[in-house]
Amino acid sequence: MVFMNNNLKATAVAPANIALIKYWGKAHEDLRIPLNSSISMNMSGAITTTTIEFSKHLTRDSVTLLPDKTNPSEETKDFSDKEADRIVRQISRIRERAKTSMFARVVTQNSFPKSSGAASSASGFAAITVAASEALGLRLSQKELTILARLGSGSACRSIPDGFVLWEKGNTSEDSYAYSLYPSAYWDLRDVFVIVDRSAKKISTSDGMKNVTTSPFLRDRLERVPERIELMKTALQKKDIELFGHVLEEDCLSMHLVMQTQVPPAFYWNAITESIMKSVAAWRADGLKAYFTIDAGPNVHLMCEAKDEKELSENIQTLPGVQSVIINKPAPGAHLVSDHLF
Ligand code: PMV
Repeated sequence: MVFMNNNLKATAVAPANIALIKYWGKAHEDLRIPLNSSISMNMSGAITTTTIEFSKHLTRDSVTLLPDKTNPSEETKDFSDKEADRIVRQISRIRERAKTSMFARVVTQNSFPKSSGAASSASGFAAITVAASEALGLRLSQKELTILARLGSGSACRSIPDGFVLWEKGNTSEDSYAYSLYPSAYWDLRDVFVIVDRSAKKISTSDGMKNVTTSPFLRDRLERVPERIELMKTALQKKDIELFGHVLEEDCLSMHLVMQTQVPPAFYWNAITESIMKSVAAWRADGLKAYFTIDAGPNVHLMCEAKDEKELSENIQTLPGVQSVIINKPAPGAHLVSDHLF
């Protein structure tokens, strides 16, 4: 990372990421080692900024979430106890590395509504990891930062490198890390994130993944993912939008098939999700090269090349049930900034 400081305070900015090849299921629960490798793209429209300051005068850690930037008039609201505990556990991992017992004040802000279904845990844990490591003067490589972020939230490791990112599943904590395949400027793609439901997930990803081995389709998925990883790498290398879209949708459907056949099943879609998936197929039949992918919720990411964004956005206006849209370009990974939140 660029600048080292001695004043125990640092601020980092990190993007959420959309998985192009999904992560669903862990080989090691506590270490968050995944069952398969995954590929993602950082999202320019879903960014978390986090400032952390350690001090020997503090008697406990405090974690504050400012109103998101789209809602400045909203009152400041703290994280739930469960969320705050998870963040404190992440700070403690970094404290242990730095061999210090100082407590910290953390203030964090999203550029997007926390309840929008964008993966705030990925951007949040990437930002806190980079900021806390810097504040404590740890000289960690990007690889080490991704490993540390992964321990907080699996997909957070993909929010640290630039642009298009591969998370190598690995077998041990040291070799389960993420790296950039291509920088953000490499391919001018768009992820038009269509929000159809703002409520929090009914089943958290951590809880949902615990039952993954009960799906009879898991084995098939795990056999096929390595080939899809290679195909996605080829699609990126050739900037082949049709291959990209085909693999994108196939892997999304494969993950949701596993989710829906777990015991108990994890259904994340709703009727509007499905109607959007069908509309995209119809638009494609009319020549618009747009493709869907969906994470653990009902909201839909529609991906296309920049030249098709206008037509896609116009089409989305015609859909019933759309609450809002966030347009994302490929974004740089987590990085330090000099403007602090306090
Ligand atoms: O790391 P988590 O707990 O945010 O899990 C992410 C799971 C999915 O979003 C469904 C897929 C993925 O690879 O991002």
